[in-house]
Amino acid sequence: MPRKTPCLKVHKINGEKTIALAYSLGIIDEELKIQRDEDHIYVPLTRNPSQNETQRLNQQIESLEISTYNFQERKTYPKKFKEFLEDRLPPSLLASLPRAIDFVGDIAIIEIPPELEPYKTEIGNAILRTYKNVQTVLAKAGAVKGEYRIREFSLIAGVNKTETVHKEHGCKFHVDLTRAYFSPRLSNEHLRVASMVNESETVIDMFAGVGPFSILIAKKHKNVKVYAVDINPDAVAFLERNIKLNRVERKVHPIIGDARQVVKQQLHGLADRVVMNLPEKALDFVDAACEAIKPDGGIIHFYSFVNGKEGLENLKLQFTKEIEKFKRRVNRIVFSRLVRETAPYKWQAVLDAWVS
Ligand SMILES: C[S@@+](CC[C@H](N)C(=O)[O-])C[C@H]1O[C@@H](n2cnc3c(N)ncnc32)[C@H](O)[C@@H]1O
Repeated sequence: MPRKTPCLKVHKINGEKTIALAYSLGIIDEELKIQRDEDHIYVPLTRNPSQNETQRLNQQIESLEISTYNFQERKTYPKKFKEFLEDRLPPSLLASLPRAIDFVGDIAIIEIPPELEPYKTEIGNAILRTYKNVQTVLAKAGAVKGEYRIREFSLIAGVNKTETVHKEHGCKFHVDLTRAYFSPRLSNEHLRVASMVNESETVIDMFAGVGPFSILIAKKHKNVKVYAVDINPDAVAFLERNIKLNRVERKVHPIIGDARQVVKQQLHGLADRVVMNLPEKALDFVDAACEAIKPDGGIIHFYSFVNGKEGLENLKLQFTKEIEKFKRRVNRIVFSRLVRETAPYKWQAVLDAWVS
């Protein structure tokens, strides 16, 4: 059912910038699908922007209109997918189909609940028939684990491979899902953070993976220096390949190693901005982030796991306390949000903090 909702209407050339700004203001409605016509895009909002927000939007985006529009709800499977399965699965099990399919390049990834295990090949085939550009369907075969934050997969349909090229915000990323971390669910965060960077900044991406923050930052800005650090040699090999593929060799400097050691030895006091996307351990690395930022301060994008909105408030207190242990202070938490649900009641959250 379409829903009539406040929205931002802009010319499509300003689409990306508008989405990023609406995210950073926390007013975008993620349950609704962004709509397009020939010239414009329509960005759904949870509410009308305040006077200050309207002023910011108008200052930064040309010919922006605050309007209303009929939006479709985001993400229910295409009708076809369920149709392919209707006569192959007991009707009671149709409701058990997982809510989300992730797409990384031409690979689809799905989580098969135990009761659907006997039907996984049918589910895989239905995905191949529904999404014509998918070559491979993988099922998650365990949790993300270990220092390198990777997981195992099993093939349920299509070509047997785990390597592909994924496109995100105009960049291309070679990834092998079994050798280095990559999640398409962080796409909005990659864009939001990259859009906040200012020209001439030095950025340290402490846990860079195959480079989705670092490379997008470099692609979007003429004059930036990004140090992209990761401890996983395979992730850094893909990162190096992706730096070349996206032609950002002069701006992104890959470094292999433990972020704490690398900061101590090579990057002490250099950063205007630090990206800390290692949610399960980020609090343990606050000392290194404090050491990385310039003596007069900088911004830290800090990711962690929390339990709901209350957890987010606790995280702000914990982070502020941790920063103070290293002779720094949080001047302001400029932005915070729950990014995505990773398990029931468990969320990945982000804080953007101005630290001096
Ligand atoms: C959650 S992934 C994030 C990757 C990337 N930022 C992204 O958005 O796709 C965390 C990354 O941190 C790396 N890592 C874990 N411990 C590390 C450490 N001590 N120093 C540097 N990198 C580390 C892992 O290898 C992994 O690639």
